[in-house]
Amino acid sequence: MEAIQEHAPFRPEIAVVLGSGLGGFTESLSCNAVLQTASIPGYPHSTVEGHKGELAFCTAGLRRTLTFRGRVHFYESGNVNAILFPIRVAAALGARILVITNAAGGVNRTFVPGDLMLISDHINFTGETCPEPGASKSRGALYDPQLIRIAENTANQIGVRVVRGVYAAMKGPSYETAAEIEMIHRIGGDAVGMSTVLEVALASSLGMRVLGISCITNKATGTSSAKLNHEEVTVVAHQVREQFSRLLTHVIKALPPA
Ligand code: HPA
Repeated sequence: MEAIQEHAPFRPEIAVVLGSGLGGFTESLSCNAVLQTASIPGYPHSTVEGHKGELAFCTAGLRRTLTFRGRVHFYESGNVNAILFPIRVAAALGARILVITNAAGGVNRTFVPGDLMLISDHINFTGETCPEPGASKSRGALYDPQLIRIAENTANQIGVRVVRGVYAAMKGPSYETAAEIEMIHRIGGDAVGMSTVLEVALASSLGMRVLGISCITNKATGTSSAKLNHEEVTVVAHQVREQFSRLLTHVIKALPPA
C-alpha cells in the first residue's frame, strides 16, 4: 500500500474499475500518473492475456479519479482477497464512490449487444462471500439509487441508450448452459457475468457509494439462435467501448461530491 501511496499524485474521490475490453476509457482523460501493477509489491496480477494491470490517476473535468485497468477474476486466482485488493486500495486512498463495470451476456430478451445496463441489484452465484466482517450485517441497497438516477439522466442528455437490470454472477470460467441461463432468467436476472458482486459487497461495507454498469456484449447462451461470430462481437465491443467511455466521462462529472 505504501508503494502506491508514495506515487499517488492526489487523493482520488472516485474509483473506476474497468471490465474486459473496456480499457479505453482513460485515453480521453488527463492522467497525472499511471502505475503498472507488476511494479507494485504484492499486487495480484491477471493471467488473462490482454489484461494490462494499471492504476491510472486521472482527472475528468475537476473530478479526481483512480482507474483500475485489468482486473483479476476469481476463476483465475481462486483467491477472494486478490480480487478485492483494488477495492481496499481505493478505500485506503480515500475514494468514496466506486464505479464498477463489466462485460456481460444479456439474459433479458429485450437486451441487444451494445446495450449499457445500470445495475440495480445482483445475484451472487459465485459460491463465495465477501470476507469483510461488516459485509454480513444488514444492509440497504448495494447499488446507490441516486447514482443510478444521475447516470440515467446523463445518458438521456447525451443520447446514449441505457437499460436497468439485475446482474447475476457465476464463478466461470466456462460460459453458462442454456438451462442455467433459463434459471437466471426465471429468478429475475437480466445479465450474466463472472465478476463485480464481491467487490461491490466489500465497497458497500466500507461505506463507499456504488454505481455498476454492465456492457452487454452478447446474447447469453440459448437466448439467440445466432451462432456467435467473432468478428461481429469485436465490432460490437468496439462500438460499446466508445459509447461507454463517453457515458462514463459524463457520468463521473455529474456525480455528487464525494
Ligand atoms: N456469460 C458470462 N460472462 C460473460 C458473458 C456471458 O455470456 N459475456 C461476457 N461475459
